[in-house]
Amino acid sequence: MLAIGSDHRGFALKERLRGWLRSRGLVICDLGTFSAEPVDYPDIAIPVAEVVHDRFVDGAVLVCGTGLGMAIAANKVPGIFAAPVTSVRLAEAARTSSNAQIICLGAEVVPYELATQIIEAWLRAEFRNGDSARKLDKIRAVERRYAHTAALRGTLSQAG
Ligand code: RB5
Repeated sequence: MLAIGSDHRGFALKERLRGWLRSRGLVICDLGTFSAEPVDYPDIAIPVAEVVHDRFVDGAVLVCGTGLGMAIAANKVPGIFAAPVTSVRLAEAARTSSNAQIICLGAEVVPYELATQIIEAWLRAEFRNGDSARKLDKIRAVERRYAHTAALRGTLSQAG
């Protein structure tokens, strides 16, 4: 199962991609937005990243105007690797090298046909466990370090 989400600038593309993904037989959980009314992209990116983090879904597609805001916001959720992608080449690398569970598309820079090719390539590709795993572990180590200091700050502030 995949989650999908967009802000207002990605709304039209997200609607088309949801239909296309379902026509391919995939189960899609649409977390909004559900109209072209303006919405702040973190309000969509964070819940989508959280359902990926909690493993309610296997991955997700996020769409905004450029793909950048969605990626920056989603990557704040621990364990999430969200890649802004504009080509099939990057879609493959997002999986084989970065093991991205989320790809982020810019509706204003990626036309519909290319978006379907990007998603297809990302779904088909597999993570190449090797040097990449070590590099991704170094990124996870940073998350653990900050989680530790945040917990410590909480303890110290409770102490007084
Ligand atoms: C919309 O406000 C715009 O910021 C968003 O769609 C996205 O392009 C941000 O990266």
